Amino acid sequence: MAIELTWLGHATWLIETEGHRILIDPFLNDSPTAPITADEVETDVILVSHGHFDHVADVATIAKRTGAQVIANYEIAEWFSKNHALENIVGMNIGGQFQSSLAKLKMTNAIHSSQLPDGSYGGNPGGFLVSLKGKNIYFACDTSLFSDMQLIGQANIDVAILPIGDLFTMGPQDSVEAVKLIGPKQVLPSHYNTWPPIEQNAETWAEMVSSETDTEPIVLNPGGKHTF
Ligand code: NI
Ligand code: MN
Repeated sequence: MAIELTWLGHATWLIETEGHRILIDPFLNDSPTAPITADEVETDVILVSHGHFDHVADVATIAKRTGAQVIANYEIAEWFSKNHALENIVGMNIGGQFQSSLAKLKMTNAIHSSQLPDGSYGGNPGGFLVSLKGKNIYFACDTSLFSDMQLIGQANIDVAILPIGDLFTMGPQDSVEAVKLIGPKQVLPSHYNTWPPIEQNAETWAEMVSSETDTEPIVLNPGGKHTF
């Protein structure tokens, strides 16, 4: 059974396989590039990488409507249960693993910040290594380049999702360096072209990936799907 990965604009992604869905960092209603609204997405699990508004904005409304299990770092999990009365929520931390129905999830390091929209402490930012159906998918989420990405790559990554927007995260050049450290079979760009400060030419990035690495770059438009 194939895995279908959909880019919902910005850093929001949906994984679907056999009717099971995992939504990452839902930011839809206020995203200039989201192809759907928060009312239109169905999911069983929501992963939250860190506390910034462009990653948590629609978590509570989607979780309440769908009953999806929310998985975040411990501080963000506490914040959602206190401030939004979410009950089906799991708090974890960097390096830890959690088995969520179909997928095994590992929270990875990310170099970034994590303040929540009301100024609350949002713990450490993270990424996610998602293992399901024998495939390993690495969401670096909001981060700079860091050399421990090489250790993450030891898990044999089939698909990596890396930010290329620059300014708030690594930019295209560092993202190519990250591909070299991780060594995924395929890579998709994220966290770009949402607003002018993070505009990037993904085709130029893809050409750099192809000429400097053995990894296949895949560029989607918001709403676009990649099946593997
Ligand atoms: Ni952020
Ligand atoms: Mn962000």
